[in-house]
Amino acid sequence: MTKNDKNMKHFCTVPNVSKKEDFMRRKVIAGNWKMNMLPNEAIDFIEKFAPQVEKTNNEVILCVPYTDLFYALLTAQGTNVKIGAQNMHFEETGAYTGEVSGKMLKSIGVEYVIIGHSERRQYFNETDETVNKKIKAAFVNELKPIVCVGETLEQREANKTEEIITKQTELALQGLTQEQVENTIIAYEPIWAIGTGKTATADDANNSIKAIRDKICQIYGQMTAERVIIQYGGSVKSTNAKELFEMSDIDGGLVGGASLKPDEFAKIVNF
Ligand code: 13P
Repeated sequence: MTKNDKNMKHFCTVPNVSKKEDFMRRKVIAGNWKMNMLPNEAIDFIEKFAPQVEKTNNEVILCVPYTDLFYALLTAQGTNVKIGAQNMHFEETGAYTGEVSGKMLKSIGVEYVIIGHSERRQYFNETDETVNKKIKAAFVNELKPIVCVGETLEQREANKTEEIITKQTELALQGLTQEQVENTIIAYEPIWAIGTGKTATADDANNSIKAIRDKICQIYGQMTAERVIIQYGGSVKSTNAKELFEMSDIDGGLVGGASLKPDEFAKIVNF
């Protein structure tokens, strides 16, 4: 963090307004199946899961592998379960063997797409620059991006969490309009909490998310910062969802392992 950033830190702080009717942010709970579930398993899952969440006011999304998308979309028709992909390329067409574009996702009715998950940053050379390009391409194709940011254990232990996650957020959103930022879902996923069973404490997660919201406030203004949905991800389960999701700045979650079981994921959605 530069001296200037430090001075800016308290320059734009979003008050806790989530209790006020005017600015009531919705809760968005998304499952990230990662590389799991065959089409028949996806169909079975949605048939069991959708009736259990039909009464919720929360937004419910399942981000499924490419091979499940079509089946998931058909099975989820007429329910309140929305379907997303887990990645996309930033170009629309071209010689990019093995890639899938935003235009292709949109063409079959996909609504959401995860961008910049830490596993893609770690294993598939995703950078802040490609994340930014993909978010822009998602908006061109009218897809809603779920953008992941988060620190490693090493960065956390060096007290760099805030610096890392606010920088990732700034670079991811660079060049977007205020309206686009308001329609971006950000998922704060501390890397050390993913798939490890270790969850950030509710206070810790809330503070990190507040730091991201304050950064958005500095760049895009208070109204945008109050509207943007910021989720927590990392070992969310039915036993810790309520505590996390009731925090002032946590607007729901991005759930990995626990989203693979319909009853468990329904409990999380209905926290
Ligand atoms: P887990 O919930 O399995 O920790 O995974 C979190 C995640 O990476 C969601 O994108």
